[in-house]
Amino acid sequence: MILVTGGAGFIGANFVLDWVARCNESVVNLDKLTYAGNLESLSILKGNPQHIFVQGDIGDRLLIERLLVEHQPRAVINFAAESHVDRSIHGPGEFIQTNIVGTFNLLEAVRVYWSDLPDTDKSAFRYLHVSTDEVYGSLGKEDPAFTENHRYEPNSPYSASKAASDHLVRAWHHTYGLPVVTTNCSNNYGPHHFPEKLIPLMIVNALAGKSLPVYGDGMQIRDWLYVKDHCSAIRRVLEVGRLGEVYNVGGWNEKPNIEIVKTVCALLDELRPKADGSSYATQISYVSDRPGHDRRYAIDARKLERELNWKPAETFETGIRKTVQWYLQNPEWVQNVQTGAYREWLSKNYAERQA
Ligand code: NAD
Ligand code: DAU
Repeated sequence: MILVTGGAGFIGANFVLDWVARCNESVVNLDKLTYAGNLESLSILKGNPQHIFVQGDIGDRLLIERLLVEHQPRAVINFAAESHVDRSIHGPGEFIQTNIVGTFNLLEAVRVYWSDLPDTDKSAFRYLHVSTDEVYGSLGKEDPAFTENHRYEPNSPYSASKAASDHLVRAWHHTYGLPVVTTNCSNNYGPHHFPEKLIPLMIVNALAGKSLPVYGDGMQIRDWLYVKDHCSAIRRVLEVGRLGEVYNVGGWNEKPNIEIVKTVCALLDELRPKADGSSYATQISYVSDRPGHDRRYAIDARKLERELNWKPAETFETGIRKTVQWYLQNPEWVQNVQTGAYREWLSKNYAERQA
């Protein structure tokens, strides 16, 4: 049995789906079901006894302690977080609460449970903390990619809160001996991605005939990893990662945002051509930039490859095609996430941006 938190979100849901499909081990999935949590992503697991869903907060220490005693997991994997940089700019409070205070409470509940385990279970136990490359800050054009030893220089409320959570996890290992491993991954994309983030937003807006808002000059660079590859990296680190270590996870796919948007448009032109024959790229609109926008992220994932023999299975070309196809094949999922709250967010984030 493993305990996953945030398993109704984008990466967590992909992880849970893959876990159940590949392993015989059960998974308890604790998720608060914020705007980003979506049980529809897990609907295929309905009635499957291998998946036990619990609605709750990682900050609720008593609940976590109860779940740990009841289910006796051999590992905890923490995906739960507030994850959207733009939302952290509009309202950082929730980020501090979940990403920092929530991580602290989760660590404390796990520490109590782990301390009482018999010796063999205690040494086999793992706490895996899922983090981000954004904690390392922004790179210049010619700088080498982030290694695990790169200085922490978070620039947004989101990345600062994730950096703080990384430090807590590290300290709980050094001080209390909690058997932790941390992963710092680059930008994920793939199925079940909430359409507030770049790639799903562009697909959904393009199909709806809306504008495709590119921040600033569109030349900010991200490294992109297909979500299933992130999940395989986490499984690998969980099984053979060294205690107390940090592993960077990346796809070796650095691309400027405008290239990503144009690739999405080209795929849609091919797979769902517009009736008037024009390209979706005509909907691109440059809008005012994200405050404090990091210019470039790049991940050096050689440690993970060298030590744990992990490599991504998808190239960007194969992964982005699968992603666009998934959105075209799942219009109901797309329709159902576009609630009133989603539309409110769009108007809050985009209405005041100058074209
Ligand atoms: P997401 O926003 O799609 O999902 C987050 C999930 O956590 C949601 O289901 C939400 O309901 C749940 N949640 C939020 N607050 C909670 C709380 N207090 N208690 C319990 N559940 C709570 O996020 P994601 O993109 O799937 O990211 C998952 C993790 O991976 C995060 O920790 C994020 O920082 C990290 N990460 C994401 C990316 C990426 O590109 N998306 C890349 C690297 C790392
Ligand atoms: O690097 C890992 C991080 O990637 C994760 O830790 C975060 O949880 C995840 O949200 C993601 O952060 P980004 O800020 O990089 O992702 P986002 O999809 O919001 O934006 C990607 C890039 O596209 C970024 O440079 C901003 C730009 N952008 C984004 C949106 C939503 C636009 O140009 N227009 C947009 O409308």
